[in-house]
Amino acid sequence: MTIPNHVAIILDGNGRWAKAKGMPRSYGHIRGCENLETIVEEAKDIGIRYLSVYAFSTENWKRSRDEVETLMKLFRSYLKKCLKIAEHNQICFRVIGDPSAFDADIQKSIRTLEDFSREFKEMHVQLALNYGSRDEVTRSVRSLAQDVAEGKIRPEDITSEMISSRLDTAGIPDPDLLIRTSGELRLSNFLMWQLAYTEFYFTDVHWPDFDRKELLKAIEAYNNRDRRYGGVKEA
Ligand code: FPP
Repeated sequence: MTIPNHVAIILDGNGRWAKAKGMPRSYGHIRGCENLETIVEEAKDIGIRYLSVYAFSTENWKRSRDEVETLMKLFRSYLKKCLKIAEHNQICFRVIGDPSAFDADIQKSIRTLEDFSREFKEMHVQLALNYGSRDEVTRSVRSLAQDVAEGKIRPEDITSEMISSRLDTAGIPDPDLLIRTSGELRLSNFLMWQLAYTEFYFTDVHWPDFDRKELLKAIEAYNNRDRRYGGVKEA
């Protein structure tokens, strides 16, 4: 089976999973977070080299204060746990998105994790936190416009590679497979530039129930697609 080099996942359905069990949404997020720990290791074991997960969008601030608080608490503890996960598995973590909106201690944990794991090479995990594709592309274009204004480049010199190289994902290959759990058929502002040639896989399974078996099902479906644009490697 061909293992996709880069898998991106929109983690969806924590709330619905909890509701179906008569539990509060926060319980769904806690279990969703635990599942992320499991799936990172499963993905590594399967041979996936890059994994990008959408954990908090630029739109998620609009959720209730309680829910945002729960998520921030989870990020706090998860980012610390990631240090151990990184060391144990030799995983390089990168946060994509704009961290400046988070409390100072969360921003510090992000920097600590990125610095600590920068040289690890077994796998690359991108955590999308306060991430939105439009925001990311806007920041990239702004930085190019700044260079134009300073006379460093001319507008006609701008290439798509230059835009890519100023995205938060600079240097990371584009995803081969995008998975969205929990039945919604939308991109929700996730990696819109990077997903131009990516295969999409949607499943009704809620994120906390998305296990190794479900991940393998997605990879199997990916293997049954007719891919003309390459970007995959043999297992
Ligand atoms: C989608 O479920 C999930 C989220 C918006 C948050 C995802 C966060 C985690 C899994 C926590 C772990 C992540 C990190 C990096 C610590 P939903 O609330 O949209 O579910 P619903 O659509 O059923 O309401």
